[in-house]
Amino acid sequence: MKDDELQHLDSILQSHKLRTAVESGTCNGDTTAQLAERFEWVWTIELSLELIKGSHKRLKDISNAALISGDSSIIIPELSKAINHPVLWYLDAHWYQCARGFAIASPDAGNPFPLWDEMNAIYKRQYSDVVIVDDVHCFGTNRKGSESGWAGVSQESIADRLNAEQVEVVGDMCVAYLKR
Ligand SMILES: C[S@@+](CC[C@H](N)C(=O)[O-])C[C@H]1O[C@@H](n2cnc3c(N)ncnc32)[C@H](O)[C@@H]1O
Repeated sequence: MKDDELQHLDSILQSHKLRTAVESGTCNGDTTAQLAERFEWVWTIELSLELIKGSHKRLKDISNAALISGDSSIIIPELSKAINHPVLWYLDAHWYQCARGFAIASPDAGNPFPLWDEMNAIYKRQYSDVVIVDDVHCFGTNRKGSESGWAGVSQESIADRLNAEQVEVVGDMCVAYLKR
């Protein structure tokens, strides 16, 4: 998360009682580390075994974050049932080609665009969660590797799917506030 996004997250934390964060798409663990500085507990989910090895090293000294190996379209529905208090969901799982040039998660290894399954599960919860969907710059595009999943993503479609009370864009993040 960039500085302006982190500042906004800090302001959310002042007004919402959130002690747990769940991140889909760990990648190198950069955002996981930022979340761990702010939340009592962080779950982070990664599909790519290659990246899990690297992020393990990065996260090994962080005692309040746990890395779950798996497909977030399966894990988030499980966590959404298990966590019985408001959560900050940071949805950032999608297939992509990393700058270092290796393919991270092939679409046939798991859901290449889990966002809708993730939001379907979160929508059913009875808590006033805050949901961040990262990469607003991809919304409405046909980016390679995500099976054109982004094409139907917009502030409006996110608000609709989550039945959100309010949705705003901050930097590259779309932030949805659920009122239950
Ligand atoms: C944009 S990166 C995440 C960046 C990270 N959240 C950060 O801020 O540093 C997307 C990550 O999602 C992972 N991914 C893709 N599909 C996934 C799925 N179905 N379940 C879990 N992780 C997935 C990719 O392997 C990749 O590491």
